[in-house]
Amino acid sequence: MESIGNFHYRGGELYCEKVPVERMAEDAGTPLFVYSHAFIKDAVKEYKIAFRGTPLLLCYAVKANANIAILKLLESLGCGAEVISGGELYRARQAGVKPGKIVFDGPGKSPEEIRYALREGVLMFNVESEQELECIDALAGEMKVKARIALRVNPDVNPNTHPYIATGLKKDKFGIPIERALDYYKRAAAMSNLEVVGLHQHIGSQITRVGPYRDSVRKLVDLLERLRAEGLRLQYLDIGGGPGIRYDKERALTPERLAGALREVLESSGCRLIVEPGRSIVGNSGALITRLLYIKSNAVKNFYIVDAAMNDLIRPSLYQAHHHIAPVQLVPERDGTITVDVVGPICESGDYFAQDREMPVMEPRSLIAVMSAGAYGFTMASNYNARPRAAEVLVKGDEYHIIRRRETFRDLIKGEKIPEFLE
Ligand code: LLP
Repeated sequence: MESIGNFHYRGGELYCEKVPVERMAEDAGTPLFVYSHAFIKDAVKEYKIAFRGTPLLLCYAVKANANIAILKLLESLGCGAEVISGGELYRARQAGVKPGKIVFDGPGKSPEEIRYALREGVLMFNVESEQELECIDALAGEMKVKARIALRVNPDVNPNTHPYIATGLKKDKFGIPIERALDYYKRAAAMSNLEVVGLHQHIGSQITRVGPYRDSVRKLVDLLERLRAEGLRLQYLDIGGGPGIRYDKERALTPERLAGALREVLESSGCRLIVEPGRSIVGNSGALITRLLYIKSNAVKNFYIVDAAMNDLIRPSLYQAHHHIAPVQLVPERDGTITVDVVGPICESGDYFAQDREMPVMEPRSLIAVMSAGAYGFTMASNYNARPRAAEVLVKGDEYHIIRRRETFRDLIKGEKIPEFLE
């Protein structure tokens, strides 16, 4: 690995920006998520530059990395937020994201969540079913407010990504079939407490080709024209998130490639564009730093057992995702390499970060970096096996700041209670 994002070697040591990773690991302990401030800033700038000339609202997908310091940073860069739950809305608001820049997505918004979002006054609800439309209309009526809505349509395109994160195929649970959209729009427009303002799609995640976007956005723009013919003019075209990043050998779908492919078709939309990127903003901003505990072998395998586990970063276990794994201190080449499974302490065979990976020969206690862990890392972490969740730090130049302290054992039982009859 030469460098990924703002992680690079200097004098044989891994740095994030200008801070040695080892120093942060000594200070904050391991496992530890480390994120680069400059990377996130640059990623947002890339979107802005790529789409210059197009009126754009970047609604950062909170689910990718929801730490309030990261959200605050994105807010300060002018981003809005894409949220999927009341909890994400709360996080975004705590970070100061203005309600008028927040879109509320997801197929299962509860009445409580809808009321909360109406109280806050979010920019729009991206609605996924007829019953949800009726529910939002009724709740807005009770609260005597108008709810701004868009319909999330399912354009039936294949994004060529892992099946768990493809969301715009006919068979998926998401959205409204595009061929029924016109009918749904008419119904929505007739509901008295709704203001129909947008059209939304999200076709999947870690998409590395522009074709699926070009195809789906073309379908959306056709639909906008048909709506216009029916007298319905929409203000927002929200094309969702999903641009893929480089984990291994894939070619990243950069904002520039995306904007280039969509320029022509977007020009005719006449709408303000919303994009909801998550991974492409934070994925390669971060790494998960872990310590090698033990090395062992059996008849067929060698294992590096590290102190991070699938509860910290589940992507390899869940999607067989590839993450680069690099030593924090470069090992002299003469020490050779070894083919290992890099595994965690959890009692499941699926608890691994890499299988049959060639790694330098390392000593126990060495530090290891699992790269590209800034997106869908901490947000998917759990307390499985009663493991306190990791700490997170944000690096800015030669400074670093702990933005989440490591959980304690006490945190693990917070909110639990032994009923009297057991005492
Ligand atoms: N908008 C909506 C409606 C979404 O569902 C998502 C992601 C995004 C935006 C942001 O997508 P991005 O730009 O980050 O690809 N846990 C999986 C990824 C799940 C993505 C879910 N939806 C992973 O680790 O690969």
